[in-house]
This record gives sequence, structure tokens and C-alpha cells, in this order.
Amino acid sequence: MSKKIIVLIVVIILLVIISGVIYFTSQNSNESENANNNQENLAEQTEEENQTSNSVGTENEDDTTGTAKTLVVYFSAQGHTEEVAQKIANNLGADIFELEPVDEYSSDDLDWTDSNSRVSQEHEDESLRNIELVSTSVENWDSYDTVLIGYPIWWGIAAWPVDTFVKSNDFTGKTVIPFCTSSSSGLGNSGDLLAEEANSGNWLDGQRFRSNPSDSDIKNWTDSLQ
Ligand SMILES: Cc1cc2nc3c(=O)[nH]c(=O)nc-3n(C[C@H](O)[C@H](O)[C@H](O)COP(=O)(O)O)c2cc1C
Repeated sequence: MSKKIIVLIVVIILLVIISGVIYFTSQNSNESENANNNQENLAEQTEEENQTSNSVGTENEDDTTGTAKTLVVYFSAQGHTEEVAQKIANNLGADIFELEPVDEYSSDDLDWTDSNSRVSQEHEDESLRNIELVSTSVENWDSYDTVLIGYPIWWGIAAWPVDTFVKSNDFTGKTVIPFCTSSSSGLGNSGDLLAEEANSGNWLDGQRFRSNPSDSDIKNWTDSLQ
């Protein structure tokens, strides 16, 4: 073979190798560019998803406050009304707000058989019945169109810590439904007296429960409200 032919073959082989290298290099750079693009796309997508899930979160929060139209407010000195209030709120999917006196009632305070007990003194002297509450303001009060107010019966009327809440809030545009627990007394005119104190709101006839009503007693009543 002449030298020229050998050189030509070597040159062709070199050319094939060089073009192969160039091809593979360009393929690799395309792939890494694609990979970069994919990463960027993924990042953008994740960002979008985050934004979407954030806005759903906010919407849900808004929804919670927007659709939770019923509020159960209650005072309970010995836990019976509290249990009923919680079951009512559960059945209705309502929010709940407890009325807590700053100066809690002890069991001695509640001894109505003792004429010197706190509650007996308050019963005797109406001026002692302005019971200060930890809070009377409900968050998003305006968003509720129905408010149920629960209390124990004390000497035939609503336990007076409830008065402080009723006097402090504007019930205009709201339907208000009283309920109580008691040993034997009915609701009596306790709801009417609270309505007078509130001087606003559409107060409906309420419901009396015994101190430990059955779940079905409570369910029957909450079903009748829906
Ligand atoms: C000071 C006081 C007065 C009460 N007065 C009455 C009453 O007049 N009529 C009645 O049926 N029950 C009366 N009770 C019983 C409560 O109404 C009843 O036990 C109620 O379920 C208690 O609710 P609570 O556990 O949420 O405080 C009285 C209880 C107390 C402590």
C-alpha cells in the first residue's frame, strides 16, 4: 500500500472518531439541557402547586368561618350543661364558646342550701349578679346567623353569668335559641328574660333538658332545628 493511501485511511478514521466525539458531546449537552429544563419545569410546577394549595388552604379557612353559621354559647357551673352544649354543637356542626366567670364558682359557692353561700347571696341581692367573664367577645361574631345559648337553671331562671354575655353583645339579625339543663324546672321565662336584656335578635322558644339527657333526646331536638 502506498504511503498516500495509508495517510488517507488514517485521516478518515480520525474524522470518524472526531465526528463521533462531537456527536456524543452534543447529545450529552442536549440531555443535560433537557434535564435542566425538566428541573426548572418541575420547580415551576411545584411553585404553582404550592401556590394552589396555599390558596385552597386560605379558601378552606375562609370557608370554615364563612359556612360555620351556628354558634353554641354556654355557661356551666357543674359540667352538665357543658356536656349537652358539646353534643348540640357536634350534631349541628357548630362552633362553641364557653362563658367562664373570672371568679369561678367552687362547690361551696354553689351550695344553695346554705344561705351564706356565694350563690345564695347573689340570689338574695340582684346587685351582686354582675358576674365578670373572662371574655364576652366571640371571634367572627358577625358571621353567625344562629346562636344557641345554654345555661343551668338557678332558682327558676338562667344562671346569671349568662346575663353578662347577653348584655354585652348585639344580636341584631341573629336567631337566638336558648336551652337549659335543670333538675326539674322547665325553661320557664328564662329565655324571655334574656331576650329582654339583649334587646336585639329574634329569640325563639328554647328547650329544657334534664341534667343528664340521653344522646337521642339531644339528637331529636337538634334534628328538629335543621
Ligand atoms: C344554685 C343552684 C340553683 C338551682 N336551682 C334550680 C332550680 O330552680 N330548678 C331546678 O330544676 N334545678 C336547679 N338547680 C339544678 C341545676 O339546674 C342542674 O343541676 C343543672 O343541670 C346544672 O348544670 P351545670 O352542671 O351545667 O351547672 C340549681 C342548681 C344550683 C347550683
